[in-house]
Parts: sequence; C-alpha cells; structure tokens
Amino acid sequence: MMQCTDIHDRFLFRLITKKAFLYTEMVTTGAIIYGKCLEQLNFNREIEHPVAVQLGGSDPDELAECSRICSSLGYDEINLNVGCPSERVQKGSFGACLMKDPILVKECIEAMQEATSTPITIKCRIGVNDRDDVNFLNEFVAKIKNPNLKTIIVHARVAILKGLTPRQNRQIPPLKYENVYQLKQEFPELEVVINGGIIDIHDSLEHLEKVDGVMLGRSPYDNPMIVSNVDSKIFNETDLGNSRQEILKEYIQYCLDQADQGHPLSRTLKHIFGLNRGFKNAKAFRKLVLETIQQNNLEAAKEDLISMV
Ligand SMILES: Cc1cc2nc3c(=O)[nH]c(=O)nc-3n(C[C@H](O)[C@H](O)[C@H](O)COP(=O)(O)O)c2cc1C
Repeated sequence: MMQCTDIHDRFLFRLITKKAFLYTEMVTTGAIIYGKCLEQLNFNREIEHPVAVQLGGSDPDELAECSRICSSLGYDEINLNVGCPSERVQKGSFGACLMKDPILVKECIEAMQEATSTPITIKCRIGVNDRDDVNFLNEFVAKIKNPNLKTIIVHARVAILKGLTPRQNRQIPPLKYENVYQLKQEFPELEVVINGGIIDIHDSLEHLEKVDGVMLGRSPYDNPMIVSNVDSKIFNETDLGNSRQEILKEYIQYCLDQADQGHPLSRTLKHIFGLNRGFKNAKAFRKLVLETIQQNNLEAAKEDLISMV
C-alpha cells in the first residue's frame, strides 16, 4: 500500500509474523526506468522473505525490464497492479483501467514471464464501472490466463473509474465476495486470493474455506498486532510470540539506527501509530508518537513510549 508498506513497515511486520507474505507499495515502471528510483526497491534480504514487489505499468517491454531488475534483487514474486483506480494512474493507462483491455494485460504478463522465472501474479478488482457481475471477472481471467500464471489476487469491489477518489473506491462500491468464490469454482487450478474488508484471522479462516489465500491491507496497517498469530493459525507454525513491548523496543532501536542513516522519523515511526490499538493508553500513545515525530526527539521519548504499551 502506497505510503504504508515501505521497507520500514515491513521490518515492523517481520517482528510480528515470519510467514505472512509481504507486499511493497506499487512502484511504477517509469519510476524504475526513467526516475532511477531504485532505492524504492530496496528490501532487507535477511529478514523480509517472503516478499513481493508490486509493479504499476502497461508497457510490456518496460514491465519485462522492471521484472528482470526485481528478479535480480531477489523478490519472491512480482505482482502487476490491475486494480488501482486513481486518476493519475489512469492517465498513465495502467491500474484498474487495464481490466478493460485484457489482451494488453495478457501481453504484459507474458512479457514479464519471459523476462524472469520469478512467479508473476496480478492484483485486480472484480470489474470496472457497471461491470460487477461474475461473468465479467471470469471472462477477464479466461482471456489473460496462461499455465504459468498461477495466482490472482482480487479486491472484491468494482473500480469506478470516474467520479470517485481512490479512498471512496475502497469504501463505496459494495464488497462482492461471492464473485471471487465463483472465480475459484470456475478456475480451480488457479490460486485465488481474496482481498477487501477482511478484518482479522477469524474472518480470514472463513474465506479460506472458499479460496486459497487472503490479503489484508488496512486492518493490519491500523492494528499490526492482529497478525501476531498468523503463523500458528494459518501456517501451522510457531508464532514469533514477541510482546508489544518487545516489538516496540526493537522497532524504536531500528528507527534510531535508521535516523543515523538519514531516514527521518516521519518515515519510520509513523508505522507504529496503531501498535497499541485496542489497549488502554492507545490514544495517549498515538499522541506521543505524533509529538515525537514532530519534535524529532525519539531518544528523549523512548522510555515513555515503551512504558505505555
Ligand atoms: C493508503 C493505501 C494505499 C494503497 N496502495 C495500494 C497499492 O499501492 N497497490 C495496491 O494494489 N493496492 C493498494 N491499496 C489497496 C489495498 O491493497 C487493498 O486492496 C484495499 O485497501 C482493500 O483491502 P483492505 O480492506 O484489506 O484494506 C491501498 C490502500 C490504501 C488504504
């Protein structure tokens, strides 16, 4: 998620779960090829796997070039964004508007697959504008799929391409999980991952009766501890078991180290606003995090922050 799942946020999540698949923010092909924004592609090889990079673009050659770069960096998966409805993204002719052009999506996927052996996946919506019917999604997938495209992530809402902001496009169109379940029935060989409005592990387990995977966005970003038992409940492995205080201590040290390397608290510390969510002091904790960022004084505030969780 843009402005959210950067390298720092992913560090935080790796203190909470070792198994959940993490995704970068969308990085556009233009930023990589022309903007030389290679720093945005950095990830921490020792701790971040499994991790996927998400690309935004619609030029098969550029997507192939970026896939080569991402593959050489060691990403475990390269995901093509076919779901972002923002006007800026539409001007670049990528994101959700690509759902109207399945032939181009197919070309993009094939170019990316030819460029690398790293798995290529896509993330799309159930449809665009007035096409929120099961047929639209199933026909779209039938047109783009090939034997090497093994996974499709579907945000279970249509994207309204005119008149709604990206934020409204995540709230106003109703969630239609049934369309995603039916996609799985139509293409049982595909790994179908459902996304949109999924709050916690309990919710996730219900969806997993019908599809192969779940993707959670806002809920864990706003309340990171909800994924603290993902490893045991979903993957049958032992949870890391770090307490909120242990996580916070380690993350604060990380932020201090990052600050020494020039990464401001506004980029690093902001990810812990929700760490105390649902516990007493949650509001006071958020306030102190905000003040610490504004005053740029983590060293002075760290003991107070730790004592609040
Ligand atoms: C701040 C923000 C940034 C997002 N950025 C991206 C993005 O870069 N790529 C993407 O595929 N989806 C992005 N999304 C959409 C989420 O990945 C997800 O599809 C959507 O929020 C619905 O899932 P949720 O209800 O679990 O949050 C973003 C969402 C938010 C709130």
